Amino acid sequence: MPAGLCWPAAAALALLFLALLLALCRHLWALRWNLSRDRTSALPLPKGSMGWPFFGETLHWLLQGSRFHSSRRERYGNVFKTHLLGRPVVRVTGAENVRKILLGEHTLVRAQWPQSTQILLGSHTLLGSTGDLHRQRRKILARVFCRAALESYLPRIQKVVSWELRGWCMQPGSIDVYSSAKTLTFRIAARILLGLCLEEKQFKDLAKTFEQLVENLFSLPLNVPFSGLRKGSALSDPTLSPDSLLLDLELSGADPSGFNAGIKARDMLHEFMERAIQEKLQRTSSEEHSDALDFIINSAKEHGREFTMQELKESAIELIFAAFFTTASASTSLILLLLKHPSAIEKIRQELATHELYSQHQHCPTESCPGAGRDCKQQLLTAASDAHEDQSQPHGPTGKAELGDGRSPHFPAPLEPVCPPNSPQPRGCRCPPDISLEQLSRLRYLDCVVKEVLRVLPPVSGGYRTALQTFELDGYQIPKGWSVMYSIRDTHETAAIYQSLPGGFDPDRFSVTQPEAASRFHYIPFGGGARSCIGKELAQAILKLLAIELVTTARWELATPAFPAMQTVPIVHPVGGLQLYFHPL
Ligand code: HEM
Repeated sequence: MPAGLCWPAAAALALLFLALLLALCRHLWALRWNLSRDRTSALPLPKGSMGWPFFGETLHWLLQGSRFHSSRRERYGNVFKTHLLGRPVVRVTGAENVRKILLGEHTLVRAQWPQSTQILLGSHTLLGSTGDLHRQRRKILARVFCRAALESYLPRIQKVVSWELRGWCMQPGSIDVYSSAKTLTFRIAARILLGLCLEEKQFKDLAKTFEQLVENLFSLPLNVPFSGLRKGSALSDPTLSPDSLLLDLELSGADPSGFNAGIKARDMLHEFMERAIQEKLQRTSSEEHSDALDFIINSAKEHGREFTMQELKESAIELIFAAFFTTASASTSLILLLLKHPSAIEKIRQELATHELYSQHQHCPTESCPGAGRDCKQQLLTAASDAHEDQSQPHGPTGKAELGDGRSPHFPAPLEPVCPPNSPQPRGCRCPPDISLEQLSRLRYLDCVVKEVLRVLPPVSGGYRTALQTFELDGYQIPKGWSVMYSIRDTHETAAIYQSLPGGFDPDRFSVTQPEAASRFHYIPFGGGARSCIGKELAQAILKLLAIELVTTARWELATPAFPAMQTVPIVHPVGGLQLYFHPL
């Protein structure tokens, strides 16, 4: 202690010294990033704070959640810089700014996915490819979503939706809607994307394995001894960039053992898919073009190349990944927002009646439905109670569903006849007739409802890119190599054209035709540009068929005292899943 200083004064001095030291470190850290700006550009860096040395603003961001971005946007504007998980990041909001990012794919920016996602999904995917390879793959996959393909999927989607909803209505207790919507979308994906006809037990095993893969797509890939990653030896892939670690941590809860579980799930799915594809390839040509895999195989041939088994497996799993959680999230939001706005339900019913689709679409009585009578009813009840059991089953210590006794799930013959959703309609059955794309497109109000659901609660809140070169945005420079995150949710919330009741649910806002240029990048639930969602027509068709089935056959009510709060990471969903009772009309 310096002579003449009592200990409280010395402590105060030490604290002052520490505070000055910290302030100096912070200042030097900010200076370090200012000096790293691209000097060939006269433009300044975006406003914002780089936080504390090494940690940046990671702690604030983890504590504040989505408030982190909105508070900084209010303070610094639509383009601001920050530093998260070891990376400089520029967050971008607003139609004009987002437009530049989305249209700058391959030239100004490239997509940036977490390392774990790239390892688990593989290198032959659309998400993981760039430049010419990406363009070529997109062309091939586009056939899966062309009009003829969509038209052929509709009847099967309709049957699966109808089957699943009847199960919800027969469930004596409440339904966890988010979890049930995941089952529904997985059933649709397995059926129409992969053409799989599975028995209920097989379906559940497959769904669980798939969910395990998806849950770990955003995990921390650690190359530890005996880990699944080592066995997969994927870290030797030279295309994987270290900067993608940012997303790994952001979306994960950073669970290395989870990542190993993801590797295990991926290997099981690959094994299963390989057998399914082998069987498909051996089938006769009369069954061609009946599911997305058929479309991929044929489209690749037409484009002068055959997909290898590895490419086919990875493409199939990629499509299910992209469709699964997004569509389940949107379906849950649709059900939630309709419950909150019963007038919209009435208007959909009126529109269906006007197009003579209402009375046709009311439930066929159980006795006259496929599988007729008690068997059918019994199957539905079993499915409903299975679903209920699944939801109430305690999960394993990791919080994830365990795979039975820990052994790999047994998948017998992959392409077995499926039961209810595919059964032929017996004569005299009053089941609803198939709805065509043309009929769907005539339902203007329903289209507005689906659009509004995706505006208010966009499932994906934004997308990540890496700057390929230094470029200008909103008067600032975005230096080469920095991460760029474009925001979907914030762009919707701040769009000038939605300022009347921006947070409110008003489907009619979409009934007024906006000039294309005015609305194009204000409304981006499916992204835009070269990487826009390739499955958006399919997703919208699924949501419309779900809405039609819901309003014509069921009513639903809250099973909890209040509406749940919404969580936005990694995808929009209600906290606790949204517990509802469904009743047949
Ligand atoms: C409501 C449901 C859906 C939403 C909100 C949604 C949203 C999105 C968004 C925002 C992107 C762009 C991400 C970015 O810019 O980085 C995207 C890409 C993609 N989506 Fe969807 N999606 C949905 C359903 C589907 C479905 C049903 C499929 C396929 C069956 C699908 C397949 C894909 C694929 C393959 C990509 C990557 C495209 C590329 O990189 O070129 N999506 N989706």
